[in-house]
Amino acid sequence: MNRMLDEPQLIQLPKVFDPRGNLSFIEGNNHLPFKIERTYWIYDVPGGEVRGGHAYKTLKEFIVALSGSLDVVLTDGKKEFRFQLNRSYMGLYVPKLYWRHMENFSTNSVALIIADQPHNEDDYIRDFEAFKNLGPKN
Ligand code: TYD
Repeated sequence: MNRMLDEPQLIQLPKVFDPRGNLSFIEGNNHLPFKIERTYWIYDVPGGEVRGGHAYKTLKEFIVALSGSLDVVLTDGKKEFRFQLNRSYMGLYVPKLYWRHMENFSTNSVALIIADQPHNEDDYIRDFEAFKNLGPKN
């Protein structure tokens, strides 16, 4: 579980196949390594736009492309990781202290983000140079 908390990783969610339409679900502290405190979604993204472009000091999150596709780009200050999300049963766990942005949104895509804490501007790091100067990981 500790390794899981420190490294970005794809998490496959349950998928209940059904000829009437498939169903997936998420339970905090079961499918995710944190308790769910907030959820929000990004939608109506014009072609070519980029969202994010910051890190969180303590916040952990999970990102799913509920519809369509998008890329999540992460860096720990040294290595860069790119994940294409395009399945509504497959999401990306993002630990704290990863600089992240989202790009390549397909038309009508919807990104669901689940976080372990309420929105708090004080938890954001919005200066990439300041981010790189933080801690040994960076
Ligand atoms: P932000 O996280 O900065 O999005 P991005 O990094 O993609 O620009 O959020 C944009 C604005 O929305 C910011 O003014 C704060 C507000 N916001 C909330 O009020 N609650 C939330 O849960 C989130 C995610 C953002």
